Amino acid sequence: MRNKYNGLKSVKLWGASTAAHQVEGNTNNQWSHWERRNAERLAQDSVGEYAHWLPVWKVVEKQATSPENYISGQALDHYHKYRDDFDLMKDIGLNAYRFSIEWSRIEPRKGEFNQCEIQHYIEYVDALRERGIEPVLTLWHWTMPLWFVDKGEFQKKENIRYFENYCNKVIKALQGRVKYICILNEPSVYALLGYQEGRWPPCRKSRWQKYVVMRNLYHAHKRVYRNLKELDSGLCIGTAYALADFQGDTWLGRLRARLAAYEANWWWLDRVAKHADFIGFNYYFSNTFHGLKRVDVPGRKSNYGWLMEPWKIERVATNAHKRYKKPLIITENGLADAKDQNRQWWLEQTMNGLDRAVDRGVEIHGYLHWSLLDNFEWSDGYWPQFGLVHVDRKSGARRIRKSARWYGDLIKGLEG
Ligand code: BGC
Repeated sequence: MRNKYNGLKSVKLWGASTAAHQVEGNTNNQWSHWERRNAERLAQDSVGEYAHWLPVWKVVEKQATSPENYISGQALDHYHKYRDDFDLMKDIGLNAYRFSIEWSRIEPRKGEFNQCEIQHYIEYVDALRERGIEPVLTLWHWTMPLWFVDKGEFQKKENIRYFENYCNKVIKALQGRVKYICILNEPSVYALLGYQEGRWPPCRKSRWQKYVVMRNLYHAHKRVYRNLKELDSGLCIGTAYALADFQGDTWLGRLRARLAAYEANWWWLDRVAKHADFIGFNYYFSNTFHGLKRVDVPGRKSNYGWLMEPWKIERVATNAHKRYKKPLIITENGLADAKDQNRQWWLEQTMNGLDRAVDRGVEIHGYLHWSLLDNFEWSDGYWPQFGLVHVDRKSGARRIRKSARWYGDLIKGLEG
């Protein structure tokens, strides 16, 4: 394939991302309990929530109105099938993989660490390395052991020490095997949906609580960063923070966009940036303001109904670079696209944007697509399909999508 993305030759990590709860199966954490209690309601609510506007509603209606869609259950059984999944990555041509460790497996009871589960993740990481795939480990992707939740989880500052303890344990066990670490995944999304909007566990509706949790999470990030650097100064530790693009079409709109960007993008990151070796960010969304109002702009929509403006990653990356002057890793980026109609286009537009950003002097160290596999999309369950690899819900069979081949060819083209 002729390669027009020469600027991207400097990008080292090319891969995909997942999170334990969304792929492994059989987890026992606050999410799996919440799902079982709420599956019926989520199935009923899906009609009111989506039927009148979701582009693919007719196609997904049967699945979305069935309670079992909302229970992660066996998930993709990636817990057992990870070697096959890593073979698929190798087949596509990926050289990096972001995944998360399931805290509730490692420490099912306070202070009791399960050696077999730790061993599982050691073998998991070794299996990646054997295939020449660089592990990018996330320590917390939203799920937690029940005992930690009973203690009030991240609502209480004094609970951070339990998280520190778990992180130390994991990183000591994996020492010498893992270099790249994201401490937390999207703290702002977790806090917004769980504490302010009440849509995710623990279903609170308090703006104040959201800020308390966000504050405790930046303290957690900083403390874990210091501890891990003390353990091994060679570790490359950062974030996986949700960054969106914000634009305004009048002076008032631009002002509104700046304020929104500060609140959503920079407020939290500013507080941890000195404790990060790279800025990891997840890019999915762009927002336009007309005056003070956020407006819908015409454009392609994903299966999820999300507006797709992948090229705007250029501005997001450039702004993050200007603000922090650190290498960037795109820790997630992608779309729900069951029929694979837009994924290649999304990837192309994203690469154009990143290529232009590199030309402007932005250092991009890695790009990790969301997701490797069609997985469990939290409160929407299984119907949205984000995978480079399609997974059949019944048989669990995997099939590499065409767009993944395009992505693999792009990576190969950059190697020469
Ligand atoms: C999360 C993923 C999720 C993805 C797509 C991100 O906010 O980190 O866990 O699956 O978005 O919805």
